[in-house]
Amino acid sequence: MKGAAVNIPSLRGKNILIGVTAGIAAYKIPHLVRLLVKEQASVKVIMTPDAEAFVTPLTLSVLSKHPVYTTFESEDHQWHSHVALAQWADVFVIAPATANTLSKMAHGGCDNLLLATYLSAKCPVFFAPAMDLDMYAHPSTRANIAQLESYGNHLIPSDYGELASGLVGEGRMAEPEAIVAQLASYFFPKKALLEGKKLLITAGPTYEMLDPVRFIGNFSSGKMGVALANMAALMGAEVTLVLGPTAPHAIVQGVKVHSVVSAQQMYEATTEAFAHTDIAILAAAVADYKPQVQAPQKIKKKTDSLTLELAKTQDILASLGAQKQQQLLIGFALETENELEHAKGKLTRKHLDAIVLNSLNDPGAGFSVDTNQVTFITRGGRQEAIALKSKREIAEDILTLIHDKFL
Ligand code: CTP
Repeated sequence: MKGAAVNIPSLRGKNILIGVTAGIAAYKIPHLVRLLVKEQASVKVIMTPDAEAFVTPLTLSVLSKHPVYTTFESEDHQWHSHVALAQWADVFVIAPATANTLSKMAHGGCDNLLLATYLSAKCPVFFAPAMDLDMYAHPSTRANIAQLESYGNHLIPSDYGELASGLVGEGRMAEPEAIVAQLASYFFPKKALLEGKKLLITAGPTYEMLDPVRFIGNFSSGKMGVALANMAALMGAEVTLVLGPTAPHAIVQGVKVHSVVSAQQMYEATTEAFAHTDIAILAAAVADYKPQVQAPQKIKKKTDSLTLELAKTQDILASLGAQKQQQLLIGFALETENELEHAKGKLTRKHLDAIVLNSLNDPGAGFSVDTNQVTFITRGGRQEAIALKSKREIAEDILTLIHDKFL
């Protein structure tokens, strides 16, 4: 899921001015406004007069909880000041941005309220082009986009996919979730915390096949590891995520995902990536045992009982601990009893720099749920308790601790 929203609270209280131009993608703007309001941003909308043919000002006014501005003068002869609107905005987002508006923005055109506001704006400006593929690829459009970027405006890249014309190609406006994610990461105060760092993260369960239709697995949802991968990317890191079989996740743009099924596949993908890694965080719930043999055909129900012989899988974390050089290596420990003692044992035995302890005895912690409560323990034995909160927030805390303690 490209460019998914990851709910970073950095848009709370921001004044966001949206400029809607006359493209069919304008039908997605009510959803964008709704998402931004949910993030607790204040939203005002300006439209070009032709945009009203694609989405009604009333819809946008109800959702944004503000009047919508289309002209310089209201029906009761009040002036809609482009200067005041530009000064109000912490950020101006022009979405959808048609080829016509891009061209006028690039060359100082000023024949409507939206363009006058653009020329007046001193805040950061984002623009999300939306048009048919040949218009998007045309050298004049490319030149206009480059021109706007040279002014310091931020492109929200168009997606590839089916267009309103029925053609397939690049030119679809970015999805509202992706626009929100790009804005949130722009305002995220920790966006450069892990810049220049290469992170390797494992997440999810592994499935060990018994026969072509059955496996030994566990209930890991992958949520904690994916939250770490997303947050690390938002902090500017280059992220490789080795992900076991899970339900689909929202994964932010730029995270390189290697999907695997078995512990052996996870071992191979992780070992290969480790050499080029600065920080490895192994959050996957890897099967400790796999069937000694995998039956080539479905096992038939012939006997009253069935004994399975299991063989140990490779301990990926221990193997990386044995070969690590300058890399930081962080493990997870999911425990149900003697939690601290077991976690510290793993920290030493597997040659880790730190371990994140999850206790299944803590309500709201562990598999499947959206929250977690952990203790971060470093090699020196120092412990930091992180209270119950969302996995996104836990990920932010863990990565901040890694930064503060080791980098
Ligand atoms: N781990 C791993 N490879 C395995 C087993 C575990 O990389 N084959 C990693 C996990 O990703 C986690 C850490 O080791 O970071 C601890 O996993 P856990 O299942 O809690 O511990 P185990 O070492 O398997 O020990 P035990 O099952 O006895 O608690």
